[in-house]
Amino acid sequence: MRIILSKSTEDAVDTVTTIVLDKLTSHPSLVLGLATGRTMEPVYEELVSKINKNSVKTDEAFFFMLDEYIGIDENHPSSFKSYIKKRLMLPLNLLESQFAFPPTNLAGEVYEELIKQIGGIDLQLLGIGVNGHIGFNEPGSSIHSRTRIVDLTDETKNANQSHFGQEKMPNKALSMGIASIMDGKELLMLVTGKSKANTVKYLLNHHDDESCPATFLKSHPHFTLVLDPEAASKISLNI
Ligand code: GLP
Repeated sequence: MRIILSKSTEDAVDTVTTIVLDKLTSHPSLVLGLATGRTMEPVYEELVSKINKNSVKTDEAFFFMLDEYIGIDENHPSSFKSYIKKRLMLPLNLLESQFAFPPTNLAGEVYEELIKQIGGIDLQLLGIGVNGHIGFNEPGSSIHSRTRIVDLTDETKNANQSHFGQEKMPNKALSMGIASIMDGKELLMLVTGKSKANTVKYLLNHHDDESCPATFLKSHPHFTLVLDPEAASKISLNI
């Protein structure tokens, strides 16, 4: 596991987008796994700007979404499909056929098969929930889990309710599993803000702990964790 401590949130976002840009430049047919959430919003904004500025080719790239809510229309403004359409697909003029979305009306095996057929995910972007969830792999998720329907915890629903305003948050989602994420050739996690400081502390001090699913990622051979100063404020690293 590689940890990158950044001087600021902007610096952390710059690190993540530079890694993605470099990969895309050297490997135009990159298969990129995409995460959602507030943390990733500045990442997509900056990635779009860097791709345009450097005229990086994106027409051969392919994108897999990590998860999606069940029970709302895919065009709902708070669906993860709408999130990525607005932030990446439309600004970069990418085709919808360059994206795979978790098939919420089908079994997760269909998605797993698609990932396999395309040769696997080269680089998986990840955020983390305050409770240590990755994708929507909530505490208690097994290291062997694959793409499947999951129940969202009250904590996650409270954290994401604001995206739905007065409307009730979905209770379920289809999420790539821990094992599906671990199959990615490289994992890149960004954590920002003081609300995640305790989560980061727990993550760094525990291993293979189902109560914090992100701890499983630490045994991945190419896992990079990028932290801003607030997210790193409760850890001490002896360098
Ligand atoms: C979401 C997503 C995760 C994301 C996490 C944190 O709901 N399913 O992929 O990493 O929760 O979100 P945020 O960045 O808004 O804190």
